Amino acid sequence: MDAVRNPYSPGAGTRPPALVGRDGEIESMDVALQRLRLGRDGRSQMLTGLRGVGKTVMLNEFEQVADGRGYFHEHIEVGEDGDLAPRLGSAFRRVLLSMEARRRIGERVRRALGVLKAFSIRLPGGPELSIDVDAVYGPADSGDLATDLSGLFVELGEVARDHDTGVLITIDELHYVAQQTLEALVMGLHRAAQLRLPITIAGAGLPSLAALTGEAKSYAERMFTFPVIGSLPISEAREALVLPAKDEGVRWEDAALDRVVAVTRGYPYFLQEFGKQVWDVAEGPEVITAEDVGRSIPVATAELDDGFFRVRTGRTSDPERAYLRAMAELGPGPAHSGDVAALLRKKTTSLGPTREGLIRKALCYSPRWGEIDFTVPMFDEFMKRWIPDLRALG
Ligand SMILES: Nc1ncnc2c1ncn2[C@@H]1O[C@H](COP(=O)(O)OP(=O)(O)OP(=O)(O)O)[C@@H](O)[C@H]1O
Ligand SMILES: [Mg+2]
Repeated sequence: MDAVRNPYSPGAGTRPPALVGRDGEIESMDVALQRLRLGRDGRSQMLTGLRGVGKTVMLNEFEQVADGRGYFHEHIEVGEDGDLAPRLGSAFRRVLLSMEARRRIGERVRRALGVLKAFSIRLPGGPELSIDVDAVYGPADSGDLATDLSGLFVELGEVARDHDTGVLITIDELHYVAQQTLEALVMGLHRAAQLRLPITIAGAGLPSLAALTGEAKSYAERMFTFPVIGSLPISEAREALVLPAKDEGVRWEDAALDRVVAVTRGYPYFLQEFGKQVWDVAEGPEVITAEDVGRSIPVATAELDDGFFRVRTGRTSDPERAYLRAMAELGPGPAHSGDVAALLRKKTTSLGPTREGLIRKALCYSPRWGEIDFTVPMFDEFMKRWIPDLRALG
């Protein structure tokens, strides 16, 4: 089929041609944002889910919704370093500068920028935000992150409220942030929420993100819902394939759909990759057949192996790879660390650092004490294709 018209879109954060199965989350975000602008309470969202299920796509969607509701919005992505405060600082700065540019808020924005400047000067090893204003000391430079973030959220929220707008910051890869920092973020935002200010954050991260504790937990539960973003149920997975083709005047045979849904298990990234490869190998011009799907499976699988899967293993050490391969041996789903160790003929404790390394690199997470699972769907099958024989690792 004509590759130029191929509608499918595998890629990190790439908007799918048909965004299916997420209407509920989008609708409740829209309601929350409208309520916040009216000075009411509104619960934002912390999305959790495995790799490639569409979390980033959803955060982008939330920004679109916010835009439509007259919000100023910024997106940040946390890196493996886990640094949140400096990234948040620059996002605040961008929001204030665009408010200034679009609304000429002058004095009030200058004061907020001054507060932000004092905040960033106080950050340990913090960057100069190169803001050309005098620092305003007091609201956000105590050195206690929760207090200071609270000062900033309130400051920004007041500017937004007084100018009849709102602020949404989306934060991606939030699982990289240390528990303590995450709690400071939640507690910081809580003050602005109490004051019913039109400012909020929406976050996304791997399943480990949901594990907040103590006081922060009860605050978080009042300010956010924690939807789990996952694979699409059969009917929606089919829609994700059918709708984009329909727009191009192309139809899928039922058996062809069944086959792709089965091999991808409805995981969004895999649906896009298979959709794309099937389209390119299909004879066409109007129908995608089960036969086309059959021929595309090795191509799509190779494409996923070399891209989506392999990039995750790039920086793993030999012991880490052996650990992943042993996990794969135990099949899909969480494995007991003890069983992994037994397969590798090692003590669980001696494998502790390896296990920690994999969690730090976000290739694995621990769903429960003593258990470990992949953060990437169907990673066990990839590991077996990549290293067919566990014993080959010695
Ligand atoms: N609801 C959906 N329907 C169909 N395709 C989708 C849907 N959501 C996302 N996709 C597709 O899935 C792929 C992955 O999306 P995205 O990058 O947002 O995932 P993610 O959860 O952020 O992954 P990661 O954890 O690796 O960052 C993209 O190609 C996107 O087009
Ligand atoms: Mg993402």
